[in-house]
Amino acid sequence: MAQTTASQPYQAINFSEKFARFSGQWTPRVVAEMNDYQFKIVRVQGDFVWHSHATTDEAFLVLEGELRIDFRDGHVLLRPGELYVVPQGVEHKPCAEHEARLLLIEPRGVLNTREQGGERTALNDVWV
Ligand code: NI
Repeated sequence: MAQTTASQPYQAINFSEKFARFSGQWTPRVVAEMNDYQFKIVRVQGDFVWHSHATTDEAFLVLEGELRIDFRDGHVLLRPGELYVVPQGVEHKPCAEHEARLLLIEPRGVLNTREQGGERTALNDVWV
């Protein structure tokens, strides 16, 4: 459920301010929820691992920098203000030559690497 507090009932969620609260790359932080979906911000740089999500689509919105999402048969390049939704079950590998800041939108409980696991697997459901 969307959250408000008594002292600040109408508080905008500011991505720059949220990013200032944590460091590190490939460590998504939840900034908001809508129904069963979460909005997560993350810094990325370098190559992620090939993976897919068997039960959900995954939305990437680039806030700063450039993100390339590789697929087995092509890729998409995203710049600030651009959005792409990876369909469920489709193998993908995000990568960024320089650090990029992203907003991810996906159902609560989704692990970033899904069943592939490994060192890129981040803690789930961490708010900032
Ligand atoms: Ni993914």
